[in-house]
Amino acid sequence: MSSDLRKKLLEVFTDKPDEYISGQELADRLGCSRTAIWKHIEEMRKDGFTLEAVRKKGYRITNSPKSIIPDEIRFGLKTKFLGRNIFYEETVDSTQKIAQKLAYEGAEEGTIVLAEEQIGGRGRMDRSWHSPKYKGIWMSVLLRPNIPIMQAPQLTLLTAVAVVQGIEEVTGIQAQIKWPNDVLINGKKVTGILTELQADSDRIHSLIIGIGINVNQHIEDYPEELQNTATSLFIEKKEDWNRAVIIQAILLKMEKLYTIYLENGFYPIKLLWESYALTIGTRITASTLTGKIVGKALGITDDGVLLVEDEQGTTHRIYSADISV
Ligand code: BTN
Repeated sequence: MSSDLRKKLLEVFTDKPDEYISGQELADRLGCSRTAIWKHIEEMRKDGFTLEAVRKKGYRITNSPKSIIPDEIRFGLKTKFLGRNIFYEETVDSTQKIAQKLAYEGAEEGTIVLAEEQIGGRGRMDRSWHSPKYKGIWMSVLLRPNIPIMQAPQLTLLTAVAVVQGIEEVTGIQAQIKWPNDVLINGKKVTGILTELQADSDRIHSLIIGIGINVNQHIEDYPEELQNTATSLFIEKKEDWNRAVIIQAILLKMEKLYTIYLENGFYPIKLLWESYALTIGTRITASTLTGKIVGKALGITDDGVLLVEDEQGTTHRIYSADISV
């Protein structure tokens, strides 16, 4: 369908949201036959719109691509296993919880859970994660790596690298990583990553990597307390982004990095992570549960621990903290 006709057709539907519009009315407004309208409707369906057709009433759009259409993700997805099994819901408490349940029930590695909105979105350190409807990517990825539990943080770092690379590929924006796994643009947070695992004493059963990406939020979509610290891809480029395309790019990057990781270990991932890291080599303040450590961030260890050298020359191993520069 020409983009002009598509635009007109959409205009007619958006003039009367939630109302049925007869095939005859559509044909009159677009100046074409009812058969042509039927064909256009079929094309829209193929493009991810859900249109309800009711005899004697007409057509109504019940779901437009402002939603993430799982099929839209599947068709353009170049991965072998990551994102091949998609669990999608409009509104959830947290995609993490659903992914955990699926993992427990035996869902395959690579399964992803996506939602348009989370009402109980979770962040690191027991914080909440603001996840407004249709605006972002709220996704949990299920992995089942055969690695010791202590290496699990490496996969969080790997995910941050995949997000940076995926964002760059689709938007051209060069994001950076703030240890351990915040992705920032111009110093403001665009993505948070939360990893949770199910394991017994020595073996990981499943790893749930939760990725929250602020995509199409405008500044006024954020609560006031986040407006100075958070950003979105829209805010940075003044462009609305197709979330399905970003998901595809990130999943492909993540699968490639994961394969490298399983074959060659963490070292190549660590080098990439450090090349995107904002804080390495600079003076930082690490606020831990037990106090503040000020010093130079030296780098990360193979287990993802941040090394900070204080003014007295002592090197501290930081396992969990908030970092400010
Ligand atoms: C952070 O605090 O920086 C981590 C935020 C992680 C948010 C994502 S959104 C998808 C998944 N579901 C959740 O409830 N949290 C993670």
